[in-house]
Amino acid sequence: MLDIRYELTQQKKDKPDPQKLGFGVHYTDHMFIVDHTEGIGWHDARIVPYAPLQLDPAAMTLHYAMESFEGLKAYRQPDGSIRLFRPDKNAERMINTNRRMCLPALPVEDFVQAVKAIVKTEEDWVPSEEGTSLYIRPFVIATEPHLGVRTSKTHQFLIICSPVGAYYSTGINPVKIFVEDEYTRATPGGTGFTKCGGNYAASLISQVKAHELGYEQTLWLDGVEHKYVEEVGSMNCFFKIGGTVYTAPCTGTVLPGVTRMSCIELLKKWGYAVSEERLAIADVMKASQDGRLEEVFGTGTAAVISPVGELRFEDQVAYINDGRIGEVTHRLYDTITGIQWGTLPDDMGWTTGI
Ligand code: COI
Repeated sequence: MLDIRYELTQQKKDKPDPQKLGFGVHYTDHMFIVDHTEGIGWHDARIVPYAPLQLDPAAMTLHYAMESFEGLKAYRQPDGSIRLFRPDKNAERMINTNRRMCLPALPVEDFVQAVKAIVKTEEDWVPSEEGTSLYIRPFVIATEPHLGVRTSKTHQFLIICSPVGAYYSTGINPVKIFVEDEYTRATPGGTGFTKCGGNYAASLISQVKAHELGYEQTLWLDGVEHKYVEEVGSMNCFFKIGGTVYTAPCTGTVLPGVTRMSCIELLKKWGYAVSEERLAIADVMKASQDGRLEEVFGTGTAAVISPVGELRFEDQVAYINDGRIGEVTHRLYDTITGIQWGTLPDDMGWTTGI
């Protein structure tokens, strides 16, 4: 249990127009910080005014990408209360990430306590307009000033919050995806399963390429054979082919998404066949030609459930479901967002109050 000190500001910012939030543009009045020192552990938990960090220019996070992060959301309920979606799953994932990255991790209960404390402090910032939420970004940085490559002796865990609307400017309309066949995102034994900034930094070149070609995001193939589908830039990816729903297995190169996990649980509950076997991109394109590629969608905390309308792989283009949102995609979107925003009963026991 963290002993959190509060240093609250009287200088509150103006709230942004809830109709024009975008994603990750506005930040709330406060942030959560707790320090970690080798030999001492976590100490000095505090909620302080949101402000630039004091960081030594030699801080190891700046040089060797020694950092990790998480993403989750707080949702305004119809009765005005606020709920979180499976925050314990984010805490568990950060523990797995940090083990791989040699970073200290907060125990699950402390992570959840910190998230609840900052959201409670910033409760006025949780928007209530349809499709909006408060995005919560916990992250860990190595703060020790040292230029030799080794683990850091000091770290900070922080949480910042941002009121958000849709991740894609297209909203819930289908996105166009470019299948990357040149660059790779992850290989076995690497950091593909972690949520570390380096994974995203290394992915940008493909995103730039995709944008230049008129596509919104990249679908990554496996890094060894460039043959099997893995994940999309900021989402896990699902393919409904001939009635079965496929998604890449979480065997080390794919991010174990909380929304991914929740979709699989719902699909199984609804009686769909779900396969987490590897799926070749050639089979996806063939299924499209044969008229068996029924739906493609991405899942993520930021992106929620995002239908994919077009996939381009080399010189082939698959148009999915005539650019319309598929039935399963729609049902998952309605169910997950209904549970999150409290307009449907939380039969799965996924949400928790603050
Ligand atoms: C999330 O969905 O929370 C993510 O972390 C994606 C992010 C890189 C925008």
